[in-house]
Amino acid sequence: MKIFLDTSNKNDIVKWLPTGIIDGVTTNPTTLSKEGSEPKKQILEICSAFPQGDISVEVTEQEPDKVYAQAKEIAGLAKNITVKIPCQLRYYAVIKKLVEEKIAINVTLVFTLIQATMMCKLGVRYISPFIGRWDDIDVQGADILYEIRAMVDEYGYKTQILAASLRSALHLHAAIASGADIATIAPEVLEKTLNHLLTNQGVEKFLHDWAKTGVKQFP
Ligand code: E4P
Repeated sequence: MKIFLDTSNKNDIVKWLPTGIIDGVTTNPTTLSKEGSEPKKQILEICSAFPQGDISVEVTEQEPDKVYAQAKEIAGLAKNITVKIPCQLRYYAVIKKLVEEKIAINVTLVFTLIQATMMCKLGVRYISPFIGRWDDIDVQGADILYEIRAMVDEYGYKTQILAASLRSALHLHAAIASGADIATIAPEVLEKTLNHLLTNQGVEKFLHDWAKTGVKQFP
């Protein structure tokens, strides 16, 4: 199971690296727009701060020809970049071509089993099913992860499932339980999830009881 940080903030990435649990980063136009620095510079800084990480960077062009050219340019920025392309029918031919040219693709904004299946057929590196955005419209988003896992295994596709739009511990739990290959999660949500209340309370109780022994040095 891999964990990616869902952020464009370099400081957050650098802060989490020593924990040893982060394998990559997913950026998107929204998170990049919040950084207040020039996006290309920001991406280059992230790639060099985390050279062993897999860094997803999304296209911003719209016309298929321009998306193709931009995807190649983005891929050329650094060795550890995976190019994110939205799962729209008009980009299928572009995605096919880029996969044939061995460009690593993360197909983003995947919402259905059918979309996921088509992207697996094209041989992309990652598909990113969005969970939180289904929940936003009152649909149980996590269910799709189990269906996509079964589909990928049934047909023996090589594409990895990158659970995205994870907004809570429940979402991360579902990503793990479903067998998604990767979960991408915002640093603040990951921190809240891993700083478990019961663990912290348990430590406090043990230390409180330990103080009763009066032992100053142990062992
Ligand atoms: C990651 O690749 C996605 O862009 C991100 O998880 C989207 O999350 P959101 O639905 O909370 O914006």
